[in-house]
Amino acid sequence: MSKIGIFFGTDTGSTRLVAKKIYSLLGDELADKPKNINRTSAAEFLQYDALILGTPSYGVGELPGLSTGCMEANWEEFVPCLDAADLSGKCVALFGLGNQERYADRFASSMIHLYRLFYGQGADIVGQWSTDGYMFKNSHAVIDNQFVGLALDQRTQPHLTEERLKIWLAQITPQLLPVAPEIA
Ligand SMILES: Cc1cc2nc3c(=O)[nH]c(=O)nc-3n(C[C@H](O)[C@H](O)[C@H](O)COP(=O)(O)O)c2cc1C
Repeated sequence: MSKIGIFFGTDTGSTRLVAKKIYSLLGDELADKPKNINRTSAAEFLQYDALILGTPSYGVGELPGLSTGCMEANWEEFVPCLDAADLSGKCVALFGLGNQERYADRFASSMIHLYRLFYGQGADIVGQWSTDGYMFKNSHAVIDNQFVGLALDQRTQPHLTEERLKIWLAQITPQLLPVAPEIA
């Protein structure tokens, strides 16, 4: 059985930690080790039909990267290599980190760019998530009253992350890997 590929961008390490947590909850039978998107080639990425992709938010208008003040390359520098890629047949779940108190008017908004890119190039997007339990005014990553992926806030709600991940992974795993055994 092919596995789930987990890729993340990060600036200060929180999204990496969440990606590692996802990997430990899924186990190495279902997923490969998470990889920083700034050390990933297009070929490595495109070998997966099932993907979990994580991004922090650093502004609204673009994905995180050097132009948003990140210290290292991030999603912004990676996505151009997918320009000509046919992503149909791929199943993608997104998670996004943000800070809903400090950035209440643009909470976890960067997820929308990954959503548009992958949906626009033919991928199925799974793992939409309720906005219940969060306190924010606006997020560009909300469509039809739901986040386009799992929103996480390691600054103001870190105690909720593990439970959210468990529920979300139980929801998306059968969609990402239809023949996989249920995770505990
Ligand atoms: C300069 C700056 C801009 C930020 N912009 C946003 C934002 O627009 N929306 C949001 O929800 N969080 C924003 N954040 C919070 C980060 O997304 C959050 O701390 C995240 O956990 C960082 O993830 P990382 O450690 O993987 O880089 C910002 C943080 C900084 C320092």
